[in-house]
Amino acid sequence: MELAVGAAWLLLMTLALSLTMSGPGQSAEKIDPERVPSQNQASDQVQDQLQVQEGKKHFVKATCWGCHPHGENALHGDKPLKGPAFSKRFKSDEDIVAFVRRGSKFGMPPFPKSKLSDNDLRSIIVYIRSLSKKSDTAHAK
Ligand code: HEC
Repeated sequence: MELAVGAAWLLLMTLALSLTMSGPGQSAEKIDPERVPSQNQASDQVQDQLQVQEGKKHFVKATCWGCHPHGENALHGDKPLKGPAFSKRFKSDEDIVAFVRRGSKFGMPPFPKSKLSDNDLRSIIVYIRSLSKKSDTAHAK
């Protein structure tokens, strides 16, 4: 159920984003120089959103979502993949890579490269990081 809602939302977002991307104003001749900076900013944000959506797809595909819906932790409620405490435990992305590859004896299976490629894991981390507010990470450093 949760998953179906998530998937539907993902689909909607992807559609909305692809509409934005293919909308008018993107062709080089028509760009008003005065407006270029803000258009670039907007398209950076769209790029970021697309990367997050891509990461979420991998997060679902790699079965993470089953135990971590919306970055929560269904088995250990006090270990979500977001928030100040998480950002403090996992200061760098490498810390997340190491943990996911190794797993944990407290119910998290290991994900070796044979199960999850480096690229997919990087993409998943973009999604995980997007779940925490900027202030959470700033606080952790
Ligand atoms: C079978 C359930 C299960 C699956 C599938 C699973 N996890 Fe976990 N995960 C857990 C549990 C349980 C913990 C808490 C482990 C602990 O406390 O040591 C955890 C902890 C984590 C943590 C550390 C959280 C913290 O706050 O300390 C990260 C990061 C994480 N998982 C990422 C992932 C990713 C990425 C995937 C998919 C590739 C994944 N998990 C798949 C059960 C799962």
